[in-house]
Amino acid sequence: MTEINIKGGRRLKGETDVSGAKNAVLPQIAALVGMKGEGVIYNCPDIADVKTSVEIIRNLGGNAGLEEGRLYADLRNIDKFEIPAGPGGKMRSAITFCGGLLGRFGEVVFSEPGGCVLGARPIDIHLNGFKVLGAEVKYEGERIRVRGKLKGSKIKLKYPSVGATQNLIIAACFAEGETVLKNPSLEPETVDLINFLNACGGEIKVRDGCIYIKGEKDLRPKPYRVMADRIEAGTFLFAAAMTGGGISLRGITRKNMGVVWNVLEGCGCELKEEKKVLSLKAPERLKAAKEITVRPYPGFPTDLQPQLTAMLSVAEGRSIINETVFEGRNKHIGQLLKMGADITEEKGFIINGVKSLKGAEVTAFDLRGCAALCLGALGAEGESRIKNAGYIFRGYENFEEKIKDLGGEISILKLNRV
Ligand code: UD1
Repeated sequence: MTEINIKGGRRLKGETDVSGAKNAVLPQIAALVGMKGEGVIYNCPDIADVKTSVEIIRNLGGNAGLEEGRLYADLRNIDKFEIPAGPGGKMRSAITFCGGLLGRFGEVVFSEPGGCVLGARPIDIHLNGFKVLGAEVKYEGERIRVRGKLKGSKIKLKYPSVGATQNLIIAACFAEGETVLKNPSLEPETVDLINFLNACGGEIKVRDGCIYIKGEKDLRPKPYRVMADRIEAGTFLFAAAMTGGGISLRGITRKNMGVVWNVLEGCGCELKEEKKVLSLKAPERLKAAKEITVRPYPGFPTDLQPQLTAMLSVAEGRSIINETVFEGRNKHIGQLLKMGADITEEKGFIINGVKSLKGAEVTAFDLRGCAALCLGALGAEGESRIKNAGYIFRGYENFEEKIKDLGGEISILKLNRV
């Protein structure tokens, strides 16, 4: 069990770097398995989910490794199309290996993916998309087999699922003819995947909210630098804001932050961007945000909702957050209550800002919820202990070091990794 110990009440100050984006690099690594040759991705974060992706590539017969931010993958000897249940069960994004394997072999076998428990998390949009592309989907006990020669088609997604969009983009690069995705995810990480695939020889365009993919591409990996992690950056900005601090983050722009920038300004923070360094100065007391609805891009990102909830728990006045993406992304609420937050769950989360949280012993249940509890602890009076905190390694590179760079008092006891 991993534990995070935090002594709260210090204003975060100073500068740190933003890493490469977890949610951008994972589908890029997954897409590599459809390609022949050797690939390099720069700015790759050293996080547990990248290590799991490396393990999957090795299980498929390829080779891969990560050294000093450089992900290397040798895809020449990939000879299996079964995503292993072990590593495949550790993270939801293992399912995005399907697109590349289907393209390479016309067949893929996998299990229902694991990852954070945020509600039902079905995979029907992925499977329906594969069916529309002409594949057959068969359940074989715990395993799912998808097989067939793919033919480009028009696919209307019933919801702009990030993973399904990415999986279908990758698969469609190998299908015969053109594919059009209607109502797709247009998150910046999806656009980064498109840029990566285009750099590797793909022909993908975004027009009028749809994604057009030309098929039958012989994709070859090209060196690529993954985009900065807007979720990591947002986490640190919210942490600084809730401690009344002032920080600078290197490697991120205002454009990357989208609506998060406006939310922070609305709460009374001063933000500025200069040459890819983003700085925030918090007011003495944050103001409540009236009502924020979490939605697919360009809406407020669900991966920052728990951290926003933590921050608003000390903002003056009443804030309301409506989480519309994951119905089960609320496990941090009960833990923030233990720290003295005043939050009620009705249709949305109704947050009455308290003056200050109090250190407590709390438990993390998922990755972003764990980050939220760290924020609560950093802003609280006294000491906190966050149990079951190994999740943090899944999404944050050098979290302990970076929080220390910013003057936070934190220690992570790596008794085990999730
Ligand atoms: C990705 C991100 C995750 C983020 C989420 C939403 C990665 C590696 N993970 O996850 O961090 O929280 O986007 O921005 O990029 N759904 C279905 N059927 C499907 C697929 C999804 O009903 O086949 C539903 C889900 O249950 C959920 C919603 O769609 O309610 C959004 O899920 P989705 O966008 O697919 O998230 P992920 O790709 O899993």
